[in-house]
Amino acid sequence: MSLAKLGAGFVAPNPMVGAVIVFEGNIIGEGWHQKFGEAHAEVNCLASVKEEDRPKISKSVLYVSLEPCNHYGKTPPCTKLILQHKIPKVVIACTDPYEKVNGSGIMKLKNAGVDVRTGILENEAIKLNKRFFTFQEKKRPYIILKWAQTADGKVAFNANSNKRLLISNAFSNRLVHRWRSEEAAILVGTATALLDNPSLTNRLWTGPSPIRVILDLSLRLPKDLKVFDAAAKTIIINSKKEIQEKNLCYCKIEEKDNVAEGIVKVLYQQQIQSVIVEGGVQLLQTFIDAGLWDEARVVTNQSLTINGGLKAPQIPQAILQNHEKLGSDSIQYFSNK
Ligand SMILES: NC(=O)c1ccc[n+]([C@@H]2O[C@H](COP(=O)([O-])OP(=O)(O)OC[C@H]3O[C@@H](n4cnc5c(N)ncnc54)[C@H](OP(=O)(O)O)[C@@H]3O)[C@@H](O)[C@H]2O)c1
Repeated sequence: MSLAKLGAGFVAPNPMVGAVIVFEGNIIGEGWHQKFGEAHAEVNCLASVKEEDRPKISKSVLYVSLEPCNHYGKTPPCTKLILQHKIPKVVIACTDPYEKVNGSGIMKLKNAGVDVRTGILENEAIKLNKRFFTFQEKKRPYIILKWAQTADGKVAFNANSNKRLLISNAFSNRLVHRWRSEEAAILVGTATALLDNPSLTNRLWTGPSPIRVILDLSLRLPKDLKVFDAAAKTIIINSKKEIQEKNLCYCKIEEKDNVAEGIVKVLYQQQIQSVIVEGGVQLLQTFIDAGLWDEARVVTNQSLTINGGLKAPQIPQAILQNHEKLGSDSIQYFSNK
């Protein structure tokens, strides 16, 4: 699983996968899925075995964090490779819910006489690929809600104020850019795009910027806003048109759809496995009320209070999983359930 994590940010929409091959208690090879469209973990693991150790492969145990694939996709099936190498035992952390695999890799190996063990550290392996699993099983992206609030629970001066309230400190700002680098997409509401004029790119951390997703139902946002620049692919969710213009992709949602459901449907169609929703309050509350969220990350500046102001969203179903302090900011990590 540590090896698998090295693929973070490079393999989506594939899952992160790691593999080690062990002969009499010693690791003789290890590998991970490094880049979308390229070799799977098992292939890289076997390729890493030194020439003098190769005769040991057929007497070794292969450990892999996800069920080996059993179909021709961008690469040949890993089950075929395992059988070619005559590996007698394979230990698998969790099955692959992807419809073209979904137990068939395990069956193939078992039918060929391989000793297959499954369910080892299963929960950890599922958590590792929570975005992939949510996308496959719930047919929607993994949804992370994020906002910053004052110590007295305010997110802005007022709903229509042009004066931006700066809440989080430099450390949390950098962390938020790291979060952006980890998700496929970032979403904001119409008023936030208009009033804050954010870039929504990752500038303070290594790695890619997410696809920007902007809610603009009546297409009222002016084109000189930063979210319409060429810095990243941008999806504009609206109720009027369906058209691609350079990096701007206009996607229509039906009036009958609940807004959160409509957005989620578009993201699923676009193969977007995860999204971080960075406000504003109306949009966040819409996702919360629809129960369409997996995690909420709330940054609270403990030393800032304001008079009046816009109240933070309310999350009744939240379970506090973790918290940390970054200077004057505290960060709470909630999960839905
Ligand atoms: N502290 C933070 O973390 C943070 C983050 C982001 C924003 N903010 C602040 O929050 C303020 C904006 O928040 P907000 O709640 O006013 O705006 P918002 O959620 O960004 O946008 C609200 C607008 O989006 C559309 N919309 C959103 N949800 C909708 C729904 N369920 N159904 C229909 N339309 C929906 C509507 O646009 P139409 O009127 O065109 O229909 C609505 O007027 C700004 O002051 C900003 O600075 C703070």
